[in-house]
Amino acid sequence: GAPFFHFHDGALHVEQVPVAALAREHGTPLFVYSQAALSAALAAYQAGFEGRNVSIHYAVKANSNLSILRFFAQQGCGFDIVSEGELERALAAGATPEKIVFSGVGKTRHEMRVALGYQIGCFNIESEAELEVLNEVAQSLNVRAPISLRVNPDVDAQTHPYISTGLKNNKFGIAHERALAVFQRAAQLPHIAVKGIDCHIGSQITTEAPYLDALDRVLDLVDAVEAAGIPLSHIDCGGGLGIQYQDEKPPVASDLWAKMFARADARGYGERHFMVEPGRSLVGNAGICLTEVLYLKPGEEKHFCIVDAAMNDLPRPAMYQAYHTITGVQEAATQNLASAPLYDVVGPVCESGDWLGRDRHLHLQQGDLLAVYSAGAYSMSMASNYNTRPRAVELLVDGSHVRVVRQRDTLAQMMQAEQLL
Ligand code: LLP
Repeated sequence: GAPFFHFHDGALHVEQVPVAALAREHGTPLFVYSQAALSAALAAYQAGFEGRNVSIHYAVKANSNLSILRFFAQQGCGFDIVSEGELERALAAGATPEKIVFSGVGKTRHEMRVALGYQIGCFNIESEAELEVLNEVAQSLNVRAPISLRVNPDVDAQTHPYISTGLKNNKFGIAHERALAVFQRAAQLPHIAVKGIDCHIGSQITTEAPYLDALDRVLDLVDAVEAAGIPLSHIDCGGGLGIQYQDEKPPVASDLWAKMFARADARGYGERHFMVEPGRSLVGNAGICLTEVLYLKPGEEKHFCIVDAAMNDLPRPAMYQAYHTITGVQEAATQNLASAPLYDVVGPVCESGDWLGRDRHLHLQQGDLLAVYSAGAYSMSMASNYNTRPRAVELLVDGSHVRVVRQRDTLAQMMQAEQLL
């Protein structure tokens, strides 16, 4: 997005702040987020929901920094969580418990107790066994647990197999054929309150068709479940909308939702309470990671550019062969790239899988700064201390204002939980 990350006087800026100054002050690797980009991404959803009954539940796993969560809480969003840790983060950031939904195939009894104690809005149930356990836990607390059933619509989201979740052979959700029977069971359980239905078919989805197909399949079930005398007060369509990393052209949220509501209207469901659980599409293109070129290593077949960020900071290339745009931070270095040497941009971690970009044309010198784009989602939240590398600093920029929203791990922190023999 040009307005948030852009060249001005030849230098890369985040909003009004030149990134080179940020790297000098805070060191690298360094994540920098743009608050205006977060606002714009959220506005694209809100525009599509104008005049509709929709609630947005930001998927905490995409970027769980407390300041990012607080931003979304202040904008009125709810949250989609998958663990006690994410629940406590959301609450610490100011979330309203009623607007929290709890997803995930492996909720523990302890997590259920904690979430019931806070009176969260809904448990998205992923299996028949989980439903029975939640009923027991709710009974032990003498409460009724609000639930939806996550159904598996068996549609192909046409995304990377590791992040596709709506096909029959995935571990997620309840099979379409079983769904009615499980709703009937849920309706009989004394400590369960059936609230809704939900689905989530995958992530980084870049076409509309899987969403519309999934909606049709879910609405078929709503017809059947309500015909069986079980009213559903909400329909949760999950997250999954993709972003542009390279040359993808994902639908904008407002266009996608115009089509979704046209479909829902045609089937008489346009007035229902819809819920969404977007993660990546709200934060992914709101962040970059700045990294310094440590060494250039010319080779026979190809050259290596060794940077100070690695797979522990930016795990997506190593895990999914994901593409992230990488550029210099001086505009001059981004011109005439066809004539520039070809590099693999790699990190210092001791694994061949530790790469951030392959076969990239770059004009480079030792000591240069590089920007890795689309680093707002599933980067810091998936970062690790592998190779006992500290997780990076995170900054949130708002206009010309810069806030440190996470400090770099210290060496003491990384060893703090361990004991010497
Ligand atoms: N709801 C549920 C139930 C989910 O499992 C997910 C993501 C979301 C919502 C948010 O999906 P999003 O809007 O962000 O696509 N680490 C992978 C992505 C894993 C997504 C897991 N579930 C990556 O870096 O591509």
